[in-house]
Amino acid sequence: MEVIITRDYDEMSWVAAQIIRRQLIRKPDSVLGLATGSTPLGTYKEMIRMHREEGLDFSKVTTFNLDEYLGLPPTHPQSYHHFMQENLFKHINIHPGRIFIPNGMAEDIDSHCRWYEEQIKKAGGIDLQLLGIGSDGHIAFNEPGSSLGSRTRLKTLTESTIRDNARFFERAEDVPHFAITMGVGTIFEAREILLIAGGEEKAAVCAEFIEGPVTARVTASMLQLHPIVKVVLDEAAASQLKQAGYYCWVQQQKQKLVGMPSQVSFLRRPVSKK
Ligand code: F6R
Repeated sequence: MEVIITRDYDEMSWVAAQIIRRQLIRKPDSVLGLATGSTPLGTYKEMIRMHREEGLDFSKVTTFNLDEYLGLPPTHPQSYHHFMQENLFKHINIHPGRIFIPNGMAEDIDSHCRWYEEQIKKAGGIDLQLLGIGSDGHIAFNEPGSSLGSRTRLKTLTESTIRDNARFFERAEDVPHFAITMGVGTIFEAREILLIAGGEEKAAVCAEFIEGPVTARVTASMLQLHPIVKVVLDEAAASQLKQAGYYCWVQQQKQKLVGMPSQVSFLRRPVSKK
């Protein structure tokens, strides 16, 4: 795992967008796995800016979202379909036929989940998977206790996730209790993984999944076993890491390799001169 500690939320978002940009330049027809929630909003904003101002091209990109609430139609303002449309897709030149999000209204959920997995395979697998992390350690909606080999399926949300996500809904009672989510096993098959987290409320769980044991209690900890993972944190989210000094040292040392093939420094976002 490569842990990149950034100054603040904006720098975290900039670094994440740079990693995605680099992937699209390397492979314009990349398959991206995407997340919703508050954390990736800044990353999506920066991707939109790069599309508008630098011509970053999404015309050949395919995307797979991690999850969708059960029972919410795509037009529902709190559905993840709506979130993605509003916060990314309608602002970039992605082909609508190459956007995949689980269908929260699927009649036969099991066969829909199997279909979703097949579409990922048909697309050639996910090249780069963007993730957030829940305060209970979940990735996608793989709540504590989820099988570390799990595939796309229906999941019951924990009470703490329902409470966390109530901020997006008018009333706490409106938060769905179920979601269709990629499994930990599905996510683990992505060629590269990029997890972002910001804020003090994520500090304890970040220390657990990065430096604690691999356990189904914190499904993000499974990422320790993946060969290519970048974790981009702001200082607050990194504040309980025991090895923070070492992670910063690694980033400083890597500066010396800039210019060598495949080495890119994400250490510091250029500060705009206004
Ligand atoms: C969203 C998702 C979730 C969120 C997590 C963090 O598609 O899969 O795992 O990434 O709940 O949410 P925020 O970013 O709102 O703290």
